[in-house]
Amino acid sequence: MTALSWWIAETTGSPEDEALAREHRLPVQRTPPTTGWYLARDNARLALHRADGPRAYPLICDLAAVAAERAAGARQSPLAKACGLARPTTMRVCDATAGLGRDSVMLAWLGAMVTPLERHPAIYLLLHDAWQHVHSSPAPPAWAARLEPPQAVDAARWFIEQPPATFDTIYMDPMFAATRRKAQPQKALAWLGELAGPDMDADDLLAAAHQAAAKRVVVKQHARSTPLASPSYQIKAKAVRFDVYLIGNSP
Ligand SMILES: C[S@@+](CC[C@H](N)C(=O)[O-])C[C@H]1O[C@@H](n2cnc3c(N)ncnc32)[C@H](O)[C@@H]1O
Repeated sequence: MTALSWWIAETTGSPEDEALAREHRLPVQRTPPTTGWYLARDNARLALHRADGPRAYPLICDLAAVAAERAAGARQSPLAKACGLARPTTMRVCDATAGLGRDSVMLAWLGAMVTPLERHPAIYLLLHDAWQHVHSSPAPPAWAARLEPPQAVDAARWFIEQPPATFDTIYMDPMFAATRRKAQPQKALAWLGELAGPDMDADDLLAAAHQAAAKRVVVKQHARSTPLASPSYQIKAKAVRFDVYLIGNSP
C-alpha cells in the first residue's frame, strides 16, 4: 500500500481541510513529509506531491485547462463517437472511473450531464478541488453546469444501490497493468497509475455498469489489449480502443 498523507500546517491549515482529511481517513502531517505521497495546498489549490522518487513534482487537477486543450476536434473524437455524442444531444452519462476528470470534462463539454465517480481518496480530493475551483470562478464555462460534483465511491458497489437504467451511458477507463503505460503519454496519468495501481476488478465494474445503464457501457482500453467481454462494436484510435456494449437493442 502506497504511503499517503496530507500536510496541513497547524497554524495555516483550514478546518475544512482537517475535516476532509478525517472523512477520507488520510493521516495529517504537521511538517512536510520526507517520504511517500502527500497532499498539500499550493496557492489555495490542492496538490499531490511525491516526497521521494525521481519525479518529485506537484500534480494539480485543472479542468478548464483540459477543456481548452482538448476542445478542438472533440466532436469528431473517438470518445464522442463511442459515447453517442458525435452530434449534440442531451444524455446522462456516468464516468465510473473519473480519475483526474479529463474525460468527464470532455463528456460535459460535448453536452452530456455527467456524474463523476472516483474511489481513490487522493485522486477524488484533487478532482473535488478542481470542481470547486471551476464552480467558484466568477464566470464558470457552460460545460461546468453539466458536470456534477464528483462522488467518492466505488462505482461497482454504488451502481448496485441505484435504480436500473439510471444513466443512458456508463463510461469506464480503468487503469490496466502493463500495457496501459504506453497508451498514456501524459505524466499526470502515469503518476496516477503509480499511486492507485492497476484496477484488477474492471470485470466486476463492467457487470455492475450493465445494470445501471439504459443504453450503453463504453470501456476505454489499450489498443492491443483483450476486451473485458465481447463488445457490440469497437471504435479504434491510435493508442487506445473504445469497446461499446449496447444494452438491449439500443443504437
Ligand atoms: C485510468 S484512470 C481514469 C482517468 C480518467 N479517465 C481521466 O480522464 O482522468 C482510472 C481511475 O479509475 C478509478 N477507479 C477504478 N475503478 C473504480 C471503481 N470501481 N470505482 C471508482 N473509481 C474507480 C481509479 O482509482 C483511477 O483513478
